[in-house]
Amino acid sequence: MSALKSLQWEKGELVLLDQTKLPDEIAYIRCNSHEQVAEAIKVLAVRGAPAIGVAAAYGMVLALQQGLAKGLSGKDLAAYFEEAGKRLDAARPTAVNLSWAVKVMTELFHHTEESRALSVLTEKAQAMEEEDKHLCDAMADNGARLFAGKKHLRILTHCNTGALATCGIGTAFGVIYRLHERGQIDCVYADETRPLLQGARLTGTELMANHIPCRLISDNMAAYVMAHEHIDAVITGADRIAANGDSANKIGTYGLSILAAYHHIPFFITAPFSTFDFSISSGKEIKIEERNPEEVRSYHGVLAAPKDMPVLNPAFDVAPHELITGIITEKGVLTPPYDAAIKKYERSLQL
Ligand code: MRU
Repeated sequence: MSALKSLQWEKGELVLLDQTKLPDEIAYIRCNSHEQVAEAIKVLAVRGAPAIGVAAAYGMVLALQQGLAKGLSGKDLAAYFEEAGKRLDAARPTAVNLSWAVKVMTELFHHTEESRALSVLTEKAQAMEEEDKHLCDAMADNGARLFAGKKHLRILTHCNTGALATCGIGTAFGVIYRLHERGQIDCVYADETRPLLQGARLTGTELMANHIPCRLISDNMAAYVMAHEHIDAVITGADRIAANGDSANKIGTYGLSILAAYHHIPFFITAPFSTFDFSISSGKEIKIEERNPEEVRSYHGVLAAPKDMPVLNPAFDVAPHELITGIITEKGVLTPPYDAAIKKYERSLQL
């Protein structure tokens, strides 16, 4: 696996690879405050559901460090810490991994003696980072098993779900990586993923760095590619999965799920437990992030439309459960009927 790391905890600071600069530049942002982490999440310097979850966990550690440095204790420290949690949580609304991580850290803070809180919370964030690596490996193994004995696979993927989006080899990208390790990949078709080009800039970088045979396509080529390029499967990640299997992911994923169904191509979602929102019954309850219109009107400051043209810019959409062939998790592959499969999966997490 190439050495690109989305984040690193270094001597009380969170070092983020600034993904807005890729592939032109390898630049890092050193965060010593939770405000900086929230801003980095907002501008997509760190992005991808699992990576923003872990970044937020470290953001909570920084908040505690800041509170202690201000001399706060007791109720005042708790209030400061909770306020920081709200700020981090509000940075992006769709990926549930973010609020999951903030919640885990907040509960841990309230159950820990103040004198030990900083070391306990730091260890927890580090454990989340380490756990994410193992989750990625388990998803990769479970996903690759679906293609056992198959060679010359052609996989279409969307957005970026690799090392840059996680703390390990990735979710959907992890499956692709594992299949490549086993010599089963003929070609990965990477959607460029407008408007911010996570597919071209980030997945492109990861595919090339790992010498995985690939071709870049613009998003509007997906139907053509499915009709003419013998695609074996579409595999994407997710940002929030409802209890009925409806899965929110980068804008364009819904369209891919429809196209895949039309072309009789299996469509898989890959995600760990922290991407499931067991509290919502369907995708209708998922809040879709609406981003800055400038992202659609221009790219890297170069206008591609009239400068005041009205824009619609939802960052995510929801693939309906009935179009999803399977959801690849760390515990195995969930298949329809999803409400029962997801209930069973949720129970298995509580054991
Ligand atoms: O807006 P982004 O770049 O954070 O969107 C990322 C995605 O949609 C990914 O597919 C998803 O987070 C899964 S990442 C393993």
